[in-house]
Amino acid sequence: MMHALLIQFLYLLFFLQIKTTAAAPTQLRPGFYAQTCPAAEKIVRDVIIKAMKRELRSAASVMRLQFHDCFVNGCDASLLLDDTPDMLGEKLSLSNINSLRSYEVIDEAKEALEQACPGVISCADIIIMAARDAVVLSGGPNWEVKLGRLDSLTASQEDSDRIMPSPRANASYLVDLFSQFNLSVKDLVALSGSHSIGKGRCFSIVFRLYNQSGTERPDPAMDPKYREKLDQLCPLGGDGNVTGDLDATPYVFDNQYFKDLVSFKGFLNSDQTLFTSAARTRKYVRYFSRDQEAFFAAFVEGMIKMGDLQSGRPGEIRRNCRVANSRPLHALLET
Ligand code: HEM
Ligand SMILES: *[C@@H]1O[C@H](CO)[C@@H](O)[C@H](O)[C@H]1NC(C)=O
Ligand SMILES: *[C@@H]1O[C@H](CO)[C@@H](O)[C@H](O)[C@H]1NC(C)=O
Ligand SMILES: *[C@@H]1O[C@H](CO)[C@@H](O)[C@H](O)[C@H]1NC(C)=O
Ligand SMILES: *[C@@H]1O[C@H](CO)[C@@H](O)[C@H](O)[C@H]1NC(C)=O
Repeated sequence: MMHALLIQFLYLLFFLQIKTTAAAPTQLRPGFYAQTCPAAEKIVRDVIIKAMKRELRSAASVMRLQFHDCFVNGCDASLLLDDTPDMLGEKLSLSNINSLRSYEVIDEAKEALEQACPGVISCADIIIMAARDAVVLSGGPNWEVKLGRLDSLTASQEDSDRIMPSPRANASYLVDLFSQFNLSVKDLVALSGSHSIGKGRCFSIVFRLYNQSGTERPDPAMDPKYREKLDQLCPLGGDGNVTGDLDATPYVFDNQYFKDLVSFKGFLNSDQTLFTSAARTRKYVRYFSRDQEAFFAAFVEGMIKMGDLQSGRPGEIRRNCRVANSRPLHALLET
């Protein structure tokens, strides 16, 4: 009797192990789902169009997800995982809490894809397709995305806290951070041009308006009229969740962002610093402010490079982007 139970238990362990040992990462390539789900890209595009009809800003919010996903242990949809009793995920990390949004747009795409081709399209690939669509539908460049990513089994709040840059970051810090991901100075400046769409919170700029680098003075690298406007939007001690436009045309993906930086009307310190603090980034800000096509080409190159980041860890095709299909074995045994 005991023996039979033990065998059963071992069998169960073995079965769980199989379920949790997921596939190894594959080579990313365009057309990865051409046979298994030919409508995938159209399905995602339609969901983004619908989301933008509900709220134009969702394009920016969805596009930002690629950055926050890919920098933390590769593009593996780790940031979409909800916290569990034994895992603090990335949604509540310093850079993401009360800030990342439009997760429900990705859910909607996942639901539509599960209807059409169950168990085939990873959430990590949905983020990549959605980010591209958000740019195109906002008037930016189009490009072919490489697909074939797997979804992570876990997420790490600690890793997100350690890696994701603060809005206070200066140019040399950002150059260094991006170089750790093999992204060049040009990639950094071009990818920062994503702030051509979207909004940021007062919380992200009040230090800059009232106490830059502990001086108890505003950042001197700000156009005075623009600063007055931001002072009104974000009074000292006001609501940190009030939002302002990241550039003068927050729903159009264009090179206005760079024109704004050149005239000292950058919203975030991490934006303005690219023009103000370092010659090697300033060069590209000026270049992109004058040549939108050059910006678009460099942006596409940067997005593809960023989309290539992979952790090499095992993964799976999640059924629901917010939860891993199978919980780790030790967690199952503990409960
Ligand atoms: C270079 C370093 C970067 C820093 C320090 C940074 C920081 C920030 C901050 C602080 C905000 C506003 C968040 C808030 O106040 O709630 C923001 C918004 C945004 N970021 Fe970045 N970011 C960086 C790079 C990127 C990259 C590479 C992308 C995408 C390719 C991106 C896409 C966006 C978008 C689209 C928004 C607006 C989102 C919305 O309206 O919901 N950012 N970023
Ligand atoms: C940039 O920021 C880093 C990290 O916060 C700091 O150590 C460094 O002194 C700053 N560099 C400049 C030029 O301000
Ligand atoms: C950067 O490139 C080097 C050399 O090709 C490679 O060993 C390293 O893994 C890359 N780093 C990342 C984060 O992709
Ligand atoms: C300004 O910032 C410095 C350093 O970050 C801090 O010590 C100081 O208390 C701040 N001043 C005010 C008025 O918040
Ligand atoms: C923004 O709103 C959230 C949720 O309502 C709240 O928890 C948070 O404290 C607010 N953040 C700021 C900076 O005011």
